[in-house]
Amino acid sequence: MIPQSFIDDLLNRLSVVDVVGRAVTLKKAGANYQSCCPFHEEKTPSFTVSPSKQFYHCFGCGAHGNIIDFTMAWRNLSFVQAIEELAHSAGLSVPKNELKRAERQPDILTPLLEEASNFYRNSLKGSKRAIEYLKARGVTGQTAARFGLGYAPPGWQALAKVLKNYEEQGPIDSGLVVLNDSGRRYDRFRDRIMFPIKGHRGRIVGFGGRVLDAGEPKYLNSPETRLFEKGRELYGLVQAQRAIHSKNRVLVVEGYMDVVMLHQHGIDYAVATLGTATTSTHAKALIRLADEVIFSFDGDAAGRRAAWRALGHCLQVIEDGKRVKFLFLPDGEDPDSFVRDHGAEAFEKLIETAQSLSRFMLDHLASESELNTEEGRAKFVKQAGAMLQQVTAPVYQLLLRKSVADMAGLSLEELDGIYKANISLPTSITTNNLKVARSVRSAPSLSRHLVRLILMQPSLAMDLQADEFSGAGTELLRALIEMIKLNGEMTEGELEQQFARSEFENTISRILSEIRELNGKIEVKQEFMDAIKKWHLQQRKRRIGELLKTELTPAQKLELLGLLPH
Ligand code: CTP
Ligand code: MN
Repeated sequence: MIPQSFIDDLLNRLSVVDVVGRAVTLKKAGANYQSCCPFHEEKTPSFTVSPSKQFYHCFGCGAHGNIIDFTMAWRNLSFVQAIEELAHSAGLSVPKNELKRAERQPDILTPLLEEASNFYRNSLKGSKRAIEYLKARGVTGQTAARFGLGYAPPGWQALAKVLKNYEEQGPIDSGLVVLNDSGRRYDRFRDRIMFPIKGHRGRIVGFGGRVLDAGEPKYLNSPETRLFEKGRELYGLVQAQRAIHSKNRVLVVEGYMDVVMLHQHGIDYAVATLGTATTSTHAKALIRLADEVIFSFDGDAAGRRAAWRALGHCLQVIEDGKRVKFLFLPDGEDPDSFVRDHGAEAFEKLIETAQSLSRFMLDHLASESELNTEEGRAKFVKQAGAMLQQVTAPVYQLLLRKSVADMAGLSLEELDGIYKANISLPTSITTNNLKVARSVRSAPSLSRHLVRLILMQPSLAMDLQADEFSGAGTELLRALIEMIKLNGEMTEGELEQQFARSEFENTISRILSEIRELNGKIEVKQEFMDAIKKWHLQQRKRRIGELLKTELTPAQKLELLGLLPH
């Protein structure tokens, strides 16, 4: 329903090389450009962009299309949203009324949330107390309107007058209404300043509500619903999107008021994680939004811990050419108070002092080891290695390795030699491609290989414990070990019989035919020992990955040190 002429115009104005080139690093290859495919994992580039055809194509996974297809796929946008985004970058605006009709049918919860929001906004106009509160915090009427701020009046069922279907399931599903144990319904938000939270489609998905005085909890948020997933949404993204795009920078803060007041002062590329820690979903989305991502945290110990956790999520998603930074605010300040007291210019100056991800990471690791001792440097090299392992951006990883080498007083060759020789940090460091997730994904095939070997030589299972193996795809392996340990020596034929008519019947017969092919061609015992070793390695790596994502308790810290290479 967007006029074809407009779409054609858009396609003419924008080059596929520029649009795709914003997301991935393209290398010229003859008349075309190439890179590794952003839509599937690969080591050698099979993703081609053709300027003459204004088309991209991946010979690996088959992804292909024009700039609209690319924008939809890469940014996870609808057709209309992709057009809007592209139009914006070309300095065009999409014909407005055309857009409305083309929008998707919203969820039935959406109108409920919109009605409630309208009601809250109107109630704000009628409440002197709420207006006074916002005024006292320095919020202008214009800002309140921009963010759709409202006020939920006191009273248990104020929304009953507003929502026709108050007694039905919808209001409960939307999180606006709570059903208590005795079957009574009441409004979740009462006597609070209301911050509507908009999802990436621009529609309200939930609310945050702040008390006006010293009540508890200070903020009450919508529960997670089918529209609202806290670890996914970024507050203020709808309002910030344009600025993020044009300034190619996004600032991530912690609070609603931080976003609102930063925008009011012209720092309009700010968004907030919703009172939750930064998730890897957030990190992934943020990295895609702009080339520069700045996380702002309190300067206190809790802020530094939160920053460290965010850093862990960024390692895996950072791309070459992207800059991730950490800004620590002076003691006792948050972005809201800072920008109110010192102004936007001072805040932007502060942003200039933000530490790069690498600086923050390496300084932090260095502070935990004594770099003036051999032992300290060895510990530093180990810990850095575990983190470096997660970085998949090749150039960035190389630069980090250089810094680590410098700080440890080693040459890069020496450092790489250590990492390469180290069995629990296998080739990943030099191939740059290993993601923690991959070791999890390859577990099923490794466990299948173990099943194969045990079927070839059942006595191998005698030294194993079934519960050493867990996770998807290990069920058969466990059953097999248990069976053999229970029955003592068994032949292949006996095992096949035992498993006939079990849920594993088909798998077993498939594996047995694989075995007939393998027979005589492999050293069963040696293969088996290697596979077991690999299995433990994978488990260890997965556990390291898990640990690195969380704030460590002292016990977990010890566990991590134990897991790291000695
Ligand atoms: N938060 C929350 N629930 C709470 C407290 C906080 O969801 N009980 C979230 C909110 O998104 C809040 C953010 O965490 O904006 C930061 O909390 P905090 O620093 O305590 O508040 P401020 O944002 O500084 O709020 P204000 O300035 O309004 O006091
Ligand atoms: Mn605050």
